[in-house]
Amino acid sequence: MVSRFMNVSLATHCCVVLGMVVSSSAFALDATSASVESPGKVLNVSVQVAPDGRLSYQVERKGQQVIAPSRLGFVLGSDKPLDSGFKIERQVVTDHDSTWEQPWGERRTVRNHYRQMRVDVKKNDGRRLAIVFRVFDDGLGFRYEFPKQPNNRALHIADELTEFVVAQPATAWWQQAGEVWALEYPIQKSPLREVGMANTPMTVRMENGTHIAFHEAALVDYASMWLRRVEGQRLRAHLTPSATGNPVVRTGAFTTPWRTMQIADDAAGLYMSDLVLNLNEPNKLGDVSWVKPSKYVGVWWDMHLETKSWASGPKHGATTEYTKRYIDFAARNGFRGVLVEGWNPGWDSDWAGNGADMDFTKAHPSFDIAAVTDYGRKKGVHLIGHHETGGNVAHYEKQMDAAFKLYAKHGVDSIKTGYVTDGGAAQFMGKNGKVHFGYTDSQEGVRHYQKVVEEAARYKIAINTHEPVKDTGLRRTYPNWISREGARGVEYNAWGNPVNSVDHEANLVFTRMLSGPLDYTPGILSLEGKDKKPFNSTQAKQLANFVVIYSPVVMAADLIEHYERYPGPFQFIKDVPTDWEDTRVPHGAVGEYVTIARKDRASSAWYVGSVTDGARRTLDLKLDFLDAGKTYVAEIYRDGDNADYRDDKRRFDIVIEKRNVTSLDTIKMVLAPGGGQAIRLVPVK
Ligand code: NOJ
Ligand code: CA
Repeated sequence: MVSRFMNVSLATHCCVVLGMVVSSSAFALDATSASVESPGKVLNVSVQVAPDGRLSYQVERKGQQVIAPSRLGFVLGSDKPLDSGFKIERQVVTDHDSTWEQPWGERRTVRNHYRQMRVDVKKNDGRRLAIVFRVFDDGLGFRYEFPKQPNNRALHIADELTEFVVAQPATAWWQQAGEVWALEYPIQKSPLREVGMANTPMTVRMENGTHIAFHEAALVDYASMWLRRVEGQRLRAHLTPSATGNPVVRTGAFTTPWRTMQIADDAAGLYMSDLVLNLNEPNKLGDVSWVKPSKYVGVWWDMHLETKSWASGPKHGATTEYTKRYIDFAARNGFRGVLVEGWNPGWDSDWAGNGADMDFTKAHPSFDIAAVTDYGRKKGVHLIGHHETGGNVAHYEKQMDAAFKLYAKHGVDSIKTGYVTDGGAAQFMGKNGKVHFGYTDSQEGVRHYQKVVEEAARYKIAINTHEPVKDTGLRRTYPNWISREGARGVEYNAWGNPVNSVDHEANLVFTRMLSGPLDYTPGILSLEGKDKKPFNSTQAKQLANFVVIYSPVVMAADLIEHYERYPGPFQFIKDVPTDWEDTRVPHGAVGEYVTIARKDRASSAWYVGSVTDGARRTLDLKLDFLDAGKTYVAEIYRDGDNADYRDDKRRFDIVIEKRNVTSLDTIKMVLAPGGGQAIRLVPVK
């Protein structure tokens, strides 16, 4: 087994359980270091104990240091710090290799192949802790395991000492944490040495080209982790503060979320990694065939353009009549759902950051929910529910059960939730019965979002969270957590201030998208927001976004009249699926360009999306992912020769053409500045 130790008492056993290979070896020891290699020997992770008993770990990749010695430990609010005086008591190494199936996802089967090193440590005052590392060839995760405290006292964590020291000069793509817009800032690029407080996933590229994405997996009943740069390239975990005391309070034995590093030769390698999902618990819900990946349209863009309103009055969007128009449109064009916002009482007051008037248990008089859902049923179209809480968690939790019941009664199986408020201004009910403000990504926020998903599951309802806590792969455990926002969505292109930049999608794929699905609301073929504010995009790029930005539920966000104006490009939106058998990343550079190829789960067709930033690019797309010996029709939606996002007319220059191809062919894709390309590849019968 993997150990650098001599003089160890060794116990090894090996077995094969249902395709899962498990072998383990345990070392009883009193040592100052422990180490483990990934299954393919790509990574080596070691733990060291300094003479004063401080713990640190480091990571080598292919023999080169990528994470320099980085501290481990805690500052507690309920006890003396767990920062030094440690000895290693035991190291246990186990191997794991299994595959599992996603009910929906970017690919059907996922391989979970790692070597685990559990390091049990004891402090000189007798307190114990374990650090468990899972080391994959494409990265690692580690978490702490706390035993039950004496007399089952609560443990208060004031601060994590966990560090991540990037070993070589690096460039970072990151978003600030702890500020007003929560996860909705533009992604910025800077030397790692200039990062302040960052949210995760944060992606860095070291001088030698190696890419590392820092994030966390299985964030359950714990404060979300921000990364604070403490000096040089040293990042330290910073737990989201709590309004009521220490950021984390836990009783009984528990584990922290996994601190993760996906590590790859290039940006594409980061996106191909399933490490975050693998570090989550398997599906706890059993049969989830009621969770339906699908496309929908919505009474939505209108409100963002201010041609309609959420509030009642002459512009109210959520009327029975207007919704029926959308249901007809959805039925005609093969969309499963229609989202309707502003359907309930409570929108007439100042709801953002307040939400106190929201009533989720009945519909506004202008919206006959029974008539709408009956009409939809006849046409095979489902109403998608909406709960905008204004960040008022305390108020929402009181109504949640009745609210789910109402929707379930009308056959609504999917709800978009929302928490529009300033960072740190969500409202939670305290143990003292009084409401207090807090961050949505605090421990109590984390608990709330999970509670919504668990309660919704009891009604067989899927949840798409807007203004969410960041995704940490919990969709594996709760497959009804079908999507979320947690990024600057397309809505910013309606409002401006500013609109999303031309490199936004190429940034998102290699940062935010590493955490999971994004309800991005793509497909605005009209390419303009309020007051004719232009998008930084060509029309072809709008189509490519359906493949590039993954979500199992996707809203084609534009107005009916805009889709009717552009039937050619709209055909791709009608055709593109949202659930995939497989995913590949033929090209990618963070913030510059990305091409993603995905195979439909329900047919043998492949779909390709490619987007660029402001630069014109020519990318050779090898079709080697297609089945050998088959001929496919490639339906290509490409930027026209004159396309350019900076020009009001040329933005719309799109060419739609067809040709036969095989797996031996290469398509030369020319992407205009701010452009993209979408391709559908269907086998010839
Ligand atoms: C912000 C959400 O992201 C958006 O989709 C929604 O329309 C508004 N909040 C209102 O709930
Ligand atoms: Ca939002």
